[in-house]
Amino acid sequence: MDKRYYIVTLGCQMNEHDSEVMAAILDNTGYISAAAPEEADLIIINTCAVRKKPEDKVASLLGKYAALKESNRNLMIAVGGCMSQQEEAAKYIRSRFHYVDLVFGTHALPRLPDLLEQAGGQRDTVIDIEEDYSGREGLPVAHSGTFKAWLPIIYGCNNYCSYCVVPSVRGRERSRTLEDIVTEAADLSRRGYLELTLLGQNVNSYGQDLPGAVTFSDLLAELNRIDGLARIRFMTSHPKDLSDQLIEIVRDGDKICEHFHLPVQSGSNRILEKMNRRYTREHYLNLAGKIKETIEGVSITSDIIIGFPGEEEKDFLATADLVEKARFDNAFSFIYSPRKKTAAASYPDNTTYREKELRLQRLNEIQHRISKELNDLLTDRVVELLVEGPSKNDPEVQAGRTRTNKLVHFRSTTDRTGELVRVKITEARTWNLVGEPVD
Ligand code: 5AD
Ligand code: SF4
Repeated sequence: MDKRYYIVTLGCQMNEHDSEVMAAILDNTGYISAAAPEEADLIIINTCAVRKKPEDKVASLLGKYAALKESNRNLMIAVGGCMSQQEEAAKYIRSRFHYVDLVFGTHALPRLPDLLEQAGGQRDTVIDIEEDYSGREGLPVAHSGTFKAWLPIIYGCNNYCSYCVVPSVRGRERSRTLEDIVTEAADLSRRGYLELTLLGQNVNSYGQDLPGAVTFSDLLAELNRIDGLARIRFMTSHPKDLSDQLIEIVRDGDKICEHFHLPVQSGSNRILEKMNRRYTREHYLNLAGKIKETIEGVSITSDIIIGFPGEEEKDFLATADLVEKARFDNAFSFIYSPRKKTAAASYPDNTTYREKELRLQRLNEIQHRISKELNDLLTDRVVELLVEGPSKNDPEVQAGRTRTNKLVHFRSTTDRTGELVRVKITEARTWNLVGEPVD
């Protein structure tokens, strides 16, 4: 009988994509996918290390899966991804959860079949956290969707923001070649995919490590020529090196969606400097202004860290002020979480957690008001949606996304999943909009 696998994915879109690669590798190695962990012979947790919370989640999941091992003696448990890539975490998992069969890092995907075989043949936990980048190109992908897909364009990060673990778990920047990306995109388009989301920790760095002078804007211009695709998205952009050409190609490329995820992290120049972000609040506001002036109807979303070491009330107020001025469509705010092996982990921090929670709450109140105000501007407007499927709560309500990545619900007795539908917005809320189809 075929062995069954179950993958749990924590963290970001790049991790979701990596899980699709793991799934395809397993499909090719004689496994089939299981609907639930209880039915699996192999469970993989694809972990995230960006904050403490997703790391804590791993311990709770492993606790649950330990019980499953008692009823299925052949069950293998593997822990992959960003948390595993850290030597200390890998060793901690092995010692605290001795029943884990395999710990493998972000670079080990090409070796997964061998690692599973090795782990199956021995009692000890197998660990692979080699920083060997080879073998990644050309791995198969089992796309979890049928009309939209992730498409990585650059792996790793060279920026070393002082709070961030990513450069240490995802390694140095490696751009895929333009040819490889365009070939994959064209193939996805032939197979009926309408929307591609280009992934990279910083898409603006695309091409800098390749021979020739290929840039992210060049890549977008090439992809925009592929027939059949309707939408091209990308994330994440770094404010320090977002070029004018990029803004222009987003304006001019008919398939390129009018949305930037442009994390600001803080509105205080003093904190931005300590974060090693290499831009000022003035630069950021100027850039956001230029984007909005150049591209009609564009949306900008952001990430913000509250309570970075040394953040005082006046720094927080500068962030709140930036949020008022930038007027983000949405912002994801996180309380700073110290990460081992990052520069900021050793910075003195005198602010209590309670104070940080209060700042987060204050910032969220501002952002929620602005999100609602910007959504209100869309009432009575007609927008194009790519329909993602029926809503969880009501099968007669369909959910879709605008080109600007806003969630819109509309009533429909037929399932329109995967279709492009034009709707008129009838109601705006903070988190989503309501519309009705127009023909
Ligand atoms: N603590 C809190 N938030 C963090 N992020 C990255 N590192 C940390 C950290 N140590 C946030 C940033 C980033 C998003 C993906 O996660 O805002 O943009
Ligand atoms: Fe994604 Fe970063 Fe989390 Fe890794 S650590 S899963 S790259 S957010």
